[in-house]
Amino acid sequence: MSSALAVYSNQVVYRLQDVAGVIKASEQWPLEHDKLPLPAQMFRMASERAARQTDRFSFALKSKWPIRRENAPSNDIENTGLEGALANPYYGRETIYGIERLTAVYASVAVSPACARCHNNHPDSPRTDFKDGDVMGGIVVRIRLD
Ligand code: HEC
Repeated sequence: MSSALAVYSNQVVYRLQDVAGVIKASEQWPLEHDKLPLPAQMFRMASERAARQTDRFSFALKSKWPIRRENAPSNDIENTGLEGALANPYYGRETIYGIERLTAVYASVAVSPACARCHNNHPDSPRTDFKDGDVMGGIVVRIRLD
């Protein structure tokens, strides 16, 4: 999933928006038909689609510096994982609704110049100093262990 985010950001958003200047990505893409979906929105659409197909696993894009408040860590394990994913993937276990799950957090890195630029310029971003290669957040994956 992290590769899909990187490829979309680099080959679609960065190339068309920042290099060629022919189209922009925007949260408002469902209403504004001349806009591309944001990488995070592409990611969420994929995760919602997967959730409709299976409850065996789930994935979400989160950050300690979220543009969208719902993308902030929602519990201690996500908080610790996002802290830990800065260096290595983080693995933990948690029980949700009585079902034990493996929770993994992988770093989400600014692999395309579009990542840092867009976040730094976004009016709702709590951070404006992201650089290429920075860890901007993490992908939280949960797998049922029952
Ligand atoms: C064109 C603007 C844009 C680009 C390019 C972009 N993002 Fe985002 N990103 C956003 C916005 C806006 C949100 C919050 C919107 C949402 O979740 O619907 C977001 C959400 C996120 C989140 C979840 C936390 C948060 O800030 O809400 C992470 C992590 C993230 N992006 C990382 C990246 C990475 C890594 C890249 C490059 C591979 C990237 N983004 C490219 C605009 C962008």
